[in-house]
Amino acid sequence: MEPIALSAALASFTEPWSPRIVTAVNDYDVRVAKVEGDHVWHVHDHTDEFFLVLDGELHISLREPAGERTVVLPKGSVFTVPRGIEHKPYAPAPTAILLFEPTGTLTVGDRHDDVPDHVDATTGHALR
Ligand code: NI
Repeated sequence: MEPIALSAALASFTEPWSPRIVTAVNDYDVRVAKVEGDHVWHVHDHTDEFFLVLDGELHISLREPAGERTVVLPKGSVFTVPRGIEHKPYAPAPTAILLFEPTGTLTVGDRHDDVPDHVDATTGHALR
């Protein structure tokens, strides 16, 4: 194992909504992704999902029991989407995020709307 500069990891790929696995902690992956535009409504039935905004601004729409709302995460913000809550991330401009979730977690969750071409349905790719 060697240290990994997140800036170098982010510079190593261009595809949006296509996370790269930078390291693992016990049975969790740490992933980074470049994002822009809409992701897709989806839900993780069995795991919370942690977001850290490295650069730019991430919006996450949530369908909670009390109704729908959108949280806005400026650079440097963290937010955890609880398991079982349908959510749709969105970035108004090029943004970089870090995700922390169990190894094998699909980006589009256990249930999701139709996945558009610009969204990669993946459990994360290895860094090259
Ligand atoms: Ni999710």
